[in-house]
Amino acid sequence: MTSTSPAQELNGVPRQLPLAVRGFSGRVGYLASLDDFLTGPRKPEASGPVVISAVDGTAGVGKTALAVHWAQRVQHRFPGGTLYVNLRGYGPGEPASPDEVLGGFLTALGVDPARIPGDPDARAALHRSVFGRSPGPDPARQRRHL
Ligand SMILES: Nc1ncnc2c1ncn2[C@@H]1O[C@H](COP(=O)(O)OP(=O)(O)O)[C@@H](O)[C@H]1O
Ligand SMILES: [Mg+2]
Repeated sequence: MTSTSPAQELNGVPRQLPLAVRGFSGRVGYLASLDDFLTGPRKPEASGPVVISAVDGTAGVGKTALAVHWAQRVQHRFPGGTLYVNLRGYGPGEPASPDEVLGGFLTALGVDPARIPGDPDARAALHRSVFGRSPGPDPARQRRHL
Protein backbone atom coordinates (compact mmCIF):
# COMPACT_ATOMS: atom_id res chain seq x y z
CA MET A 1 0.00 0.00 0.00
CA THR A 2 1.35 3.45 -0.84
CA SER A 3 0.35 7.02 -0.26
CA THR A 4 1.56 10.47 -1.22
CA SER A 5 1.50 13.73 0.61
CA PRO A 6 -0.70 16.46 -0.87
CA ALA A 7 2.43 18.35 -1.97
CA GLN A 8 3.64 15.38 -3.98
CA GLU A 9 0.28 14.90 -5.60
CA LEU A 10 0.42 18.52 -6.70
CA ASN A 11 4.09 18.94 -7.63
CA GLY A 12 5.78 15.58 -7.77
CA VAL A 13 8.39 16.55 -5.18
CA PRO A 14 8.25 18.27 -1.81
CA ARG A 15 8.92 22.00 -1.83
CA GLN A 16 8.64 22.92 1.82
CA LEU A 17 10.44 26.25 2.02
CA PRO A 18 8.41 29.05 3.55
CA LEU A 19 8.00 32.23 1.54
CA ALA A 20 11.13 34.36 1.36
CA VAL A 21 11.19 37.66 3.27
CA ARG A 22 9.63 40.46 1.26
CA GLY A 23 12.09 43.30 0.79
CA PHE A 24 15.10 41.20 1.73
CA SER A 25 18.18 43.40 1.51
CA GLY A 26 21.93 43.21 2.04
CA ARG A 27 23.80 40.06 3.07
CA VAL A 28 25.60 40.09 -0.28
CA GLY A 29 28.76 38.55 1.14
CA TYR A 30 26.90 35.79 2.93
CA LEU A 31 24.87 34.98 -0.18
CA ALA A 32 28.08 34.78 -2.23
CA SER A 33 29.61 32.44 0.37
CA LEU A 34 26.58 30.19 0.17
CA ASP A 35 26.71 30.25 -3.65
CA ASP A 36 30.31 29.07 -3.38
CA PHE A 37 29.08 25.82 -1.91
CA LEU A 38 27.27 25.11 -5.18
CA THR A 39 29.45 26.60 -7.87
CA GLY A 40 32.74 27.81 -6.43
CA PRO A 41 35.94 26.15 -5.27
CA ARG A 42 34.13 24.65 -2.27
CA LYS A 43 31.61 22.90 -4.53
CA PRO A 44 31.26 19.31 -3.28
CA GLU A 45 31.90 16.28 -5.47
CA ALA A 46 28.68 14.65 -6.66
CA SER A 47 29.73 11.43 -4.97
CA GLY A 48 31.41 13.19 -2.05
CA PRO A 49 30.21 13.86 1.46
CA VAL A 50 27.01 15.72 2.20
CA VAL A 51 27.70 19.38 2.96
CA ILE A 52 25.91 20.80 5.96
CA SER A 53 25.94 24.59 6.28
CA ALA A 54 24.91 26.29 9.50
CA VAL A 55 24.07 29.97 10.00
CA ASP A 56 24.95 31.18 13.47
CA GLY A 57 23.90 34.34 15.31
CA THR A 58 21.75 35.73 18.05
CA ALA A 59 17.94 35.63 17.92
CA GLY A 60 16.42 38.06 15.43
CA VAL A 61 19.64 38.79 13.56
CA GLY A 62 18.27 37.38 10.29
CA LYS A 63 19.45 33.75 10.11
CA THR A 64 16.16 32.29 8.88
CA ALA A 65 15.60 35.13 6.42
CA LEU A 66 19.07 34.60 4.92
CA ALA A 67 18.75 30.83 4.70
CA VAL A 68 15.26 30.91 3.17
CA HIS A 69 16.09 33.73 0.74
CA TRP A 70 19.15 31.86 -0.54
CA ALA A 71 17.42 28.49 -0.64
CA GLN A 72 14.53 29.92 -2.66
CA ARG A 73 17.04 31.23 -5.19
CA VAL A 74 18.79 27.89 -5.69
CA GLN A 75 16.16 25.25 -5.11
CA HIS A 76 15.75 24.67 -8.86
CA ARG A 77 19.16 22.98 -8.62
CA PHE A 78 17.69 20.31 -6.36
CA PRO A 79 15.21 18.29 -8.43
CA GLY A 80 14.72 15.80 -5.61
CA GLY A 81 12.92 18.44 -3.55
CA THR A 82 13.45 20.89 -0.72
CA LEU A 83 12.72 20.09 2.90
CA TYR A 84 12.18 22.56 5.73
CA VAL A 85 11.44 22.14 9.39
CA ASN A 86 11.03 24.56 12.28
CA LEU A 87 12.90 22.99 15.18
CA ARG A 88 11.09 25.32 17.60
CA GLY A 89 14.27 26.31 19.41
CA TYR A 90 12.59 29.52 20.62
CA GLY A 91 9.02 30.40 21.36
CA PRO A 92 6.07 28.42 22.65
CA GLY A 93 5.91 24.66 22.58
CA GLU A 94 8.47 21.93 23.00
CA PRO A 95 11.45 21.79 20.61
CA ALA A 96 10.89 19.35 17.76
CA SER A 97 12.13 15.83 18.49
CA PRO A 98 14.39 13.94 16.05
CA ASP A 99 11.65 11.34 15.60
CA GLU A 100 9.11 14.02 14.68
CA VAL A 101 11.51 15.66 12.21
CA LEU A 102 12.50 12.39 10.53
CA GLY A 103 8.87 11.27 10.35
CA GLY A 104 7.87 14.53 8.69
CA PHE A 105 10.68 14.32 6.15
CA LEU A 106 9.93 10.68 5.30
CA THR A 107 6.27 11.44 4.78
CA ALA A 108 7.11 14.42 2.57
CA LEU A 109 9.42 12.19 0.53
CA GLY A 110 6.59 9.77 -0.20
CA VAL A 111 6.93 7.11 2.49
CA ASP A 112 3.59 5.74 3.64
CA PRO A 113 3.20 6.96 7.26
CA ALA A 114 2.07 3.45 8.23
CA ARG A 115 5.49 2.15 7.14
CA ILE A 116 7.58 4.62 9.14
CA PRO A 117 9.30 2.66 11.92
CA GLY A 118 8.65 3.65 15.52
CA ASP A 119 12.16 2.64 16.55
CA PRO A 120 14.44 5.71 16.31
CA ASP A 121 17.39 3.82 14.80
CA ALA A 122 15.21 2.14 12.18
CA ARG A 123 13.58 5.45 11.36
CA ALA A 124 16.98 7.09 10.90
CA ALA A 125 18.14 4.16 8.75
CA LEU A 126 15.10 4.47 6.48
CA HIS A 127 15.80 8.18 6.19
CA ARG A 128 19.35 7.42 5.03
CA SER A 129 17.99 4.93 2.50
CA VAL A 130 15.53 7.43 1.09
CA PHE A 131 18.18 10.16 0.90
CA GLY A 132 20.63 7.75 -0.73
CA ARG A 133 18.47 7.24 -3.78
CA SER A 134 19.35 9.14 -6.90
CA PRO A 135 17.35 12.38 -6.92
CA GLY A 136 14.63 13.08 -9.43
CA PRO A 137 10.97 14.01 -9.57
CA ASP A 138 9.75 10.48 -10.01
CA PRO A 139 7.63 9.63 -6.99
CA ALA A 140 6.13 6.60 -8.72
CA ARG A 141 9.57 5.05 -9.04
CA GLN A 142 10.45 6.08 -5.48
CA ARG A 143 7.32 4.44 -4.12
CA ARG A 144 8.18 1.17 -5.81
CA HIS A 145 11.36 1.07 -3.74
CA LEU A 146 9.58 1.51 -0.41
N1 LIG B 1 18.20 40.82 5.09
C1 LIG B 1 16.99 41.16 5.54
N2 LIG B 1 16.24 42.08 4.88
C2 LIG B 1 15.03 42.42 5.34
N3 LIG B 1 14.47 41.93 6.47
C3 LIG B 1 15.15 41.03 7.19
C4 LIG B 1 16.44 40.60 6.77
N4 LIG B 1 16.91 39.71 7.68
C5 LIG B 1 15.93 39.57 8.60
N5 LIG B 1 14.89 40.36 8.32
C6 LIG B 1 13.66 40.45 9.14
O1 LIG B 1 14.07 40.49 10.50
C7 LIG B 1 13.24 39.67 11.31
C8 LIG B 1 14.07 38.63 12.04
O2 LIG B 1 14.72 37.80 11.08
P1 LIG B 1 14.85 36.23 11.27
O3 LIG B 1 15.45 35.71 10.03
O4 LIG B 1 13.55 35.62 11.71
O5 LIG B 1 15.90 36.14 12.47
P2 LIG B 1 16.53 34.84 13.16
O6 LIG B 1 16.19 33.64 12.34
O7 LIG B 1 18.01 35.10 13.21
O8 LIG B 1 15.94 34.78 14.54
C9 LIG B 1 12.20 39.05 10.39
O9 LIG B 1 11.01 39.80 10.47
C10 LIG B 1 12.81 39.17 9.02
O10 LIG B 1 11.82 39.30 8.04
MG1 LIG C 1 15.14 31.89 12.87
